[in-house]
Amino acid sequence: MRKLIVLSVLSVLFPFIGCGSMSMTPSSQSGGVPRDGELMFPKDYKSFPAFLTGIQKPDAVRDLYINPVGAKAQSGQAFPDGSIMVMEIYNAKKNTAGEFEKGANGTLVKADLAKVFVMQKGAGWGKHAPDILKNGDWIYSAFKANGERLDVDYAACRGCHLPLGDSKDYVHRYDEYFSKRGHGSH
Ligand code: HEC
Repeated sequence: MRKLIVLSVLSVLFPFIGCGSMSMTPSSQSGGVPRDGELMFPKDYKSFPAFLTGIQKPDAVRDLYINPVGAKAQSGQAFPDGSIMVMEIYNAKKNTAGEFEKGANGTLVKADLAKVFVMQKGAGWGKHAPDILKNGDWIYSAFKANGERLDVDYAACRGCHLPLGDSKDYVHRYDEYFSKRGHGSH
């Protein structure tokens, strides 16, 4: 009789213990499908092939990287599962008068690395995204320079990449990427 009580108490407790430990771990780490904000920081991205560098914004400079898996894509194709794209966002350097400094060719100069934005795709990863904001199987995450997660509105990432559509695989610099690589005529 006592055994039965112990068993029923355990079976009531275990599901909660299980859920509690799951919620501590992003699903990406437990083998599930990650959601926006759950990607791992790609620590080695500086060793990825550079995609475009020195992109000039009004108050920032951006460098783009793509991992070796993504670099296998051919023009006209979607990027394969396992592709990782990284965008470094540097603040532009200001002089003591608070004006933006200009390099020899009139471009903004990089100061500190402000943020690291990441897009990564895997089979079926898009399934949790709201239908009107589906960007194929891409998932978005934003980090500080040191890899800590930033708390941002991921609907904004999706909304701004959405218009590129399937033909550009939701990648803003799709055409430049392939033309720079010299495979633009595939
Ligand atoms: C206001 C529009 C806008 C929003 C919001 C936005 N992006 Fe982008 N994103 C761009 C543009 C434009 C580029 C191309 C680089 C450039 O011109 O600055 C880009 C490029 C990228 C790239 C490089 C691949 C590519 O598309 O060329 C990544 C990775 C990226 N964004 C991630 C993110 C993440 C993560 C978020 C949300 C935290 C985000 N973006 C929000 C407009 C946006």
